[in-house]
Amino acid sequence: MLTITTPAEMRAWARVQHAAGRSIGLVPTMGALHRGHRELIADAARRADAVVVSIFVNPLQFNEPADFDRYPRPIDDDVDVCAAAGVAAVFAPTAATMYPTGFQTRVLPGALGDVMEGPGRPGHFEGVLTVVAKLFGATAADIALFGQKDYQQLRLVTQMASDLDLGVEIVGHPIVRDDDDVAMSSRNVRLDDEQRAAAVCIPRALAAAATTAASAHDADAVVDAARAVLDDEPLAAVEYVTVFEAETLEPVESIEVGQRRPGAVRIAAAVWFGDVRLIDNRDLFDGG
Ligand code: PAF
Repeated sequence: MLTITTPAEMRAWARVQHAAGRSIGLVPTMGALHRGHRELIADAARRADAVVVSIFVNPLQFNEPADFDRYPRPIDDDVDVCAAAGVAAVFAPTAATMYPTGFQTRVLPGALGDVMEGPGRPGHFEGVLTVVAKLFGATAADIALFGQKDYQQLRLVTQMASDLDLGVEIVGHPIVRDDDDVAMSSRNVRLDDEQRAAAVCIPRALAAAATTAASAHDADAVVDAARAVLDDEPLAAVEYVTVFEAETLEPVESIEVGQRRPGAVRIAAAVWFGDVRLIDNRDLFDGG
């Protein structure tokens, strides 16, 4: 397995792969790899000939400098995980090679960035789309995989790839959950034992919402069902819970008959445990 540290070397490697007729599958990450990432890598390996994992804690997408500083960076472990998973190349650039002096171009999100995570994290999605566009350029990926845990990010990246004709197929991978159903996240390692145990309230809240949605049409009733579970957990501080249309991400007020099917309406939540912010979401009608 190669470790590549500059966009120029990355592009040169990608050119060789394509010249040899090999397709490239990209798994973009910020490192601190967990089972969720390993599943993305395995999925990428089924879909492409050569898998690249990018590991880059992107300063542009952190609106809180402290959050950027605290982000875990176990690079040696991450490289081992990639080698064991049969990855062809790890792309681990430095910030200086990604954003050299004079760097000034950004990708602006459209309306998909104005809801949920958008208002509370100014500049976040601009930073995500800018780095993802650069990663697509450097790796010349034919296909790229993103987890559905960051559902809004997945929708934004899919929209960008289509709007800007980037020629990369975007695949959303189902959320990978721990044994207690808490969604896998690199931030989970920052929870203490009590907070980690308390985090189970999030999948429980989303499940309670889905149960309520089976008989209720009013989205407020569905949100209330989720909030009741979250409010019952003293360590949880809720930032938002919202029911939204899966394609447009627009808030849903009343869940119509035609929307009561898998893939149409989802619920998402952002919840703090101390200074750790977790997000999660689920389809309200997938029966899962
Ligand atoms: O989801 C992430 O880990 C990041 O937002 C991504 C897509 C790697 C861009 O930095």
